[in-house]
Amino acid sequence: MTDANAQPLYDTYARADLRFERGEGMWLITESGDRYLDFAAGIAVNSLGHAHPHLVETLKSQAEKLWHVSNIYEIPGQKRLGQRLVDSTFADKAFFTNSGAEALECAIKTARRYHYVNGNPQRFRIITFEGAFHGRTLATIAAGGQLKYLEGFGPKVEGFDQVAFGDEEALKSAIGPETGAILIEPIQGEGGVRPVPDEELRALRKLCDEHGLLLILDEVQTGMGRTGKLFAHEWSGIKPDIMAVAKGIGGGFPLGVCLATAEAAKGMTAGVHGTTYGGNPLAMAVGNAVLDVILEEGFLDNVRHIALFMKQGLASISDRYPEAISEVRGRGLLIGLKCAVPNTAMVQALRDEHLLTVGAGDNVIRLLPPLVATEADAREALTRIEAAAERLSGTARLKSA
Ligand SMILES: Cc1ncc(COP(=O)(O)O)c(C=O)c1O
Repeated sequence: MTDANAQPLYDTYARADLRFERGEGMWLITESGDRYLDFAAGIAVNSLGHAHPHLVETLKSQAEKLWHVSNIYEIPGQKRLGQRLVDSTFADKAFFTNSGAEALECAIKTARRYHYVNGNPQRFRIITFEGAFHGRTLATIAAGGQLKYLEGFGPKVEGFDQVAFGDEEALKSAIGPETGAILIEPIQGEGGVRPVPDEELRALRKLCDEHGLLLILDEVQTGMGRTGKLFAHEWSGIKPDIMAVAKGIGGGFPLGVCLATAEAAKGMTAGVHGTTYGGNPLAMAVGNAVLDVILEEGFLDNVRHIALFMKQGLASISDRYPEAISEVRGRGLLIGLKCAVPNTAMVQALRDEHLLTVGAGDNVIRLLPPLVATEADAREALTRIEAAAERLSGTARLKSA
């Protein structure tokens, strides 16, 4: 017998009752024609907004030529995108994936193989940080170390040691003879927009060099211009050995990449790793098109300009409505608002204003607009945030009266 209330999808998502039919730049439009200003961008994915003409044109024209070939063959778009990423970063080598978690899996395997081919197979352990989020595969939930994601999924994948965020002494004492790498997000996204200070990233780099450890950065959320540099670590002047990238790199097309120095990737030889779909011609065409726009002169200047504009406006709102917003943090257009009310209430109040945002840990909401946002878009968002903050403050004042 079928259950009348049954629905065909896994119940893994607590979905909002919204059905979007179309996207236009900064806007998402529902089936009934309601327009929402998108300051979530699919959680930092739609880096160029919705239906960007260059991406649409590229995808259409590639779709008419070739969708898929196996990685058994040369894929020219893959070589081109790999070369462009190598030319723009610390890296010498790229491995393309379909998601962030797969990019992290590749990063973890790359680090382990490096020590293996160096004759140190025992150095497979990786230090990670409390509050981290690296994805939902078995290895990446172990790396993230959050109980709520590990519970019920059997033994935790071995080889991840977690230390408190920002505790240098704990970090130093966690390094042992089996440690091979340190994995960190330059800004914890899901963890509540918690930036690692530049001097701490530099200290991490130094610590890795002193102990022969590889530094792996998870720039899945912070990369591809989100912070106003192509990658967030550039603000600190350091270079990682391995880096996982996804989300914004595809502008909405599933795409990720693991980047590494030639030295770090030296164990990743023919046959040791692979993927059916990673680096397919459709994804490579879109990835190259996204890069065309992000690498244009002035693109990152705009991100920094809009970020500053938003930050100033938000600081003023937070000053006037401390009962709603207690702190503004983040870098570039990865902005966190620490809420004085439950962050779920803030996300809902903003949704009522037709502004889309995303929750995060530490009672924070994230503002992650497409990087093509203009001052007019920022002003529009600020107006809506102020209206929501005013409404929530009124409720908070009534409650405390
Ligand atoms: C920092 C970070 N790493 C990894 C991931 C996992 O990426 P994906 O969901 O594409 O597997 C995410 C996704 O939110 C992320 O924010």
